Amino acid sequence: MAIFITFEGPEGSGKTSVLKEVAKRLQNEGVPIVLTREPGGTPIAEKIRHVILDRDETALDPRAEALLFAASRRQHLVELIWPSLEQGINVLCDRFIDSSMAYQGGGRHLGVDEILTINTFATEGRLPDLTLLFDLSPEVGLARIAKNKNREVNRLDLEELNFHRQVRQTYLELAQRWPHRYEIINAEKSFLEVCECAYQIIIRHLKDNS
Ligand code: TYD
Repeated sequence: MAIFITFEGPEGSGKTSVLKEVAKRLQNEGVPIVLTREPGGTPIAEKIRHVILDRDETALDPRAEALLFAASRRQHLVELIWPSLEQGINVLCDRFIDSSMAYQGGGRHLGVDEILTINTFATEGRLPDLTLLFDLSPEVGLARIAKNKNREVNRLDLEELNFHRQVRQTYLELAQRWPHRYEIINAEKSFLEVCECAYQIIIRHLKDNS
């Protein structure tokens, strides 16, 4: 049975680069996978992404933002994630429901349970099978982003340090709430070490699931 794996973490955790590297290794091993991301992943969801992350949309209300993330997630699940899993293809997704709980629930103080409720409607209760949390301090993460001039800066990157501290704290609380699906990886380690760790965890879960 295919599994649904999500990559989560605060800004600058390097999860997207790790995801691409790990995906290459898995593909070389012949493991069927599809790579996708949130917000986005399908044409409609990418359009919603554009509205949410646009730096000029400063008037976007926090609850409207949370609902748009949930709407784009619904579309992504129906069009891409569920059909892939049904065909036996493992899904590696860059951010999912836990991002909403950490950023909108924690960072924006809308409440984790409130965000879980609207997302449960969107996902019909489907949670990832495995969530890798790339954990690092916001100071280190934001310093990494500042160095990376090629990276596009989005509306959420522009939030204050306290927002990012709250996001990290909420992620750690989510990991305690769902200890069986969460694996915490120290993302302050070197890129190669982080990739190796993520790869080993995924391989273990794929074996346990086969
Ligand atoms: P993205 O450019 O994909 O950056 P990253 O490399 O950080 O994943 O931007 C996605 C941004 O949207 C990121 O700041 C986290 C935020 N986000 C939420 O606030 N809630 C969500 O539910 C999701 C999926 C993302």
